[in-house]
Amino acid sequence: MKSEFPKNFLWGAATASHQVEGGQKNNWSQWETSEERIKNLELRGEIKKHGLDNFISGRACDHYHQYKEDFRLAKELGHNATRISIEWSRIEPEEGKFNKKEIEHYRDVLKTLRQLKIEPFVTIYHWPIPLWLRDRGGLESKRFPEYFAQYAEKLAKEYKDLVKFWITINEPEVLTSSSYLQGVWPPQKKNIFLAIKVYKNLVRAHKLAYDKIKKIAPGSQAGIAKNNAYYQAANRNPINIILKRAADHYLNFWFLDQIKNHQDFIGLNHYFHNRINWGFNKNQGIKISDYGWSLSPQAIYHVLSDLKKYHKPIYITENGLADAKDKYRAWFIEETLKNVWLAIKDDADVRGYLHWSLMDNFEWSAGFWPRFGLIEIDYKTLKRTPHPSALVYKKIIESNSIYI
Ligand code: BGC
Repeated sequence: MKSEFPKNFLWGAATASHQVEGGQKNNWSQWETSEERIKNLELRGEIKKHGLDNFISGRACDHYHQYKEDFRLAKELGHNATRISIEWSRIEPEEGKFNKKEIEHYRDVLKTLRQLKIEPFVTIYHWPIPLWLRDRGGLESKRFPEYFAQYAEKLAKEYKDLVKFWITINEPEVLTSSSYLQGVWPPQKKNIFLAIKVYKNLVRAHKLAYDKIKKIAPGSQAGIAKNNAYYQAANRNPINIILKRAADHYLNFWFLDQIKNHQDFIGLNHYFHNRINWGFNKNQGIKISDYGWSLSPQAIYHVLSDLKKYHKPIYITENGLADAKDKYRAWFIEETLKNVWLAIKDDADVRGYLHWSLMDNFEWSAGFWPRFGLIEIDYKTLKRTPHPSALVYKKIIESNSIYI
């Protein structure tokens, strides 16, 4: 049966500045080349396996210079929306001093999207921070929320004529836990008290930024990109049910509850189905991506249904898989979108889908080898080649419907 998506549904893909632009000078780029990091990679045999270049973002996809070509490709692939992020360290390379040239650069980026009739979703903060901020304590600093709000205010002032959708912060839990609990991302700390402090700072940062944005551009819409997973109790066993409820409460809903009066929409990043049976991730019989993540496209139905309680429009701001050979991507997109459609039929107010990612990119501490792109990048020549799955996605976009 041909099942239509709502009129004016937004379709596209997402990227983040550090992962695609190249030429960064922020806490991540410094960490990538630090002696300690390289020694650690060597000890773990990672350099032998992938080569050192894999772990250094360097020129990445050179999207900083090739954005026009990249957005033209997105347009050719049928997209009418694109999620990008703005790099804080470019806009504010020194505390309180904003760089005119870089502000102009992103103005061009946004203007290019508008000219192509592609709706931009702009992430203000997708993880790296400027060096001056790192030196003042970064996310742990008591002043972090104010620093962040000041930067967000500047962006709102500069781009209020071009941006309708603002995403203040990307995935607060992933950032906090990778950087301050597991200690695998800069500043590589493992301290629960610091993690809680950072997490609360992110709540405050969002709220302050939200107020600034709405004051400057009352007609714009602001929210966060929240990483929600489907936690499923494998059976009625009370332990499994308690674990599910705890995971839902702390990992899916806590941040959203804190900011519920400070968001106009929910941006959903969704990747994981986590079946619980006396422990987490007891998934069964599921396909696996190159990155080792289980592929469970029906999970999004449950995640979307759980978000209905917030009574806000939902935009799927990330969803995808690492699949270098493009073996599962078309299947994954189709199956995911069937489940999105079913959730909409059951009253979830979903208004857009942005696949992760528009192109292959620098996958944080794993480096370049996991390939999430609808468009393949040859990192030697920087040639862009859309995968067949991108054309399958294009057909869905053009018909604004899916067969169920
Ligand atoms: C992040 C992206 C990342 C993707 C795949 C999300 O957690 O926002 O930056 O590349 O997942 O790991």
